[in-house]
Amino acid sequence: MKIARILFIRLLCAWAILSLIISGLVYFMERRSMEDHIVALALNEAGFVAHAFARFKVDPSLENRSRFDSILDHVVGTSFIIVEIYDQEKKSMLVRGIEQHGDIFDLLHWSNHDFPETGGASYRRIHYQGNDYFLVLTDLKDPARRRVGYFEGIFRVSPQLSQAAHREILGSVAVITGALLVAFLVTYPIANRLNERLRRRTNDVLRSNLGMLQVLGQTIAKHDSGNYGHNLRVALYAVRLARCLSLDDDHICNLIKGAFIHDLGKVAIHDEVLRKPGRLNSAEFEEMKSHVRHGADIIRNYPWLDSARDVVLYHHEKFDGSGYPYGLKGRNIPLNARIFAIADVFDALASERGYKAALPVDEVLAVMANEMPGHFDPELFHIFHDDVLPAVTELPALSLVELEEMARRLIQRHFTL
Ligand SMILES: [Fe+2]
Repeated sequence: MKIARILFIRLLCAWAILSLIISGLVYFMERRSMEDHIVALALNEAGFVAHAFARFKVDPSLENRSRFDSILDHVVGTSFIIVEIYDQEKKSMLVRGIEQHGDIFDLLHWSNHDFPETGGASYRRIHYQGNDYFLVLTDLKDPARRRVGYFEGIFRVSPQLSQAAHREILGSVAVITGALLVAFLVTYPIANRLNERLRRRTNDVLRSNLGMLQVLGQTIAKHDSGNYGHNLRVALYAVRLARCLSLDDDHICNLIKGAFIHDLGKVAIHDEVLRKPGRLNSAEFEEMKSHVRHGADIIRNYPWLDSARDVVLYHHEKFDGSGYPYGLKGRNIPLNARIFAIADVFDALASERGYKAALPVDEVLAVMANEMPGHFDPELFHIFHDDVLPAVTELPALSLVELEEMARRLIQRHFTL
């Protein structure tokens, strides 16, 4: 996936997560603030009752009783739907309520009557039949701040107040979410531009590395067979086969790197062995075989190159276990090495070398199928035979310049970030 797309998705996820978290916090805080406001309203109403009740307690005259009743009626009619007054001993003295709210009256009896300390108050929010209520319990004090009893009431939040509070909460959430969205819209292009700059520089470094890799491959080829075209063709054959297997870009990039430097270890082989025109004797062959270990040894400390190790170290293993350096068998041989082995042998037979002419493709395939039993992964060879070769019939005859152009397009396709 392209980095710009990853960046966009991650920033979008960050926006969504931050919006959820911050909106949740804002919702919680606004809700608390709304509750505090409503409870303050309720306690303010209870304060009126307290004053009248204290006067009545001191002087239980008809006038004071009438005033107390009048305030109680007012409070019950406007904000509370039921009120219960307790004396100092917490014994119920009177209950006043609006009859049409019948069921909600029971809430008073659900209350655990957690009578507060002097000056305190407790409340509980209740959502009942689509409406919000607050069960408020506070003490009643006379003007000298002495407790004269307790007030318990159910405060009904009016639909208008409830709607206004919800609108305020939703407004706050919308502002926060919008601000985060604006921050995202501003951040994305900036981050994307920086990323694009970084991507271009990284691509430059990548191209330089690949250029050095090709230079290395060409140097080895000139020192060995002088056939640099072999490195390019085996890369092209191997990648075609890898694509038929639907391998991912990482696999294919490692395959290309491996193709360019598969015989890197030959720099450690004596010239008289490396360039000997005839057959190698047993000791010479043993030395020649060591080129795969030398190659793996050279790249082992450089992770970017070490990813080509499967090809460099195992490209002479054979499917039946008769190859070298470890005699690995079947699928124990890494997939990239099994792919590369087919491309390597095919091109060696199909191209001209100083000591032999190029064989026609049909003849090469016949040699690989009949005279090299157990050498290749049969499944991969079958795909190479049926699907890869028909698509690259022109490859053996291409000039070095044409091969380099094809290799350039191959690198462009698979190594671009
Ligand atoms: Fe080799």
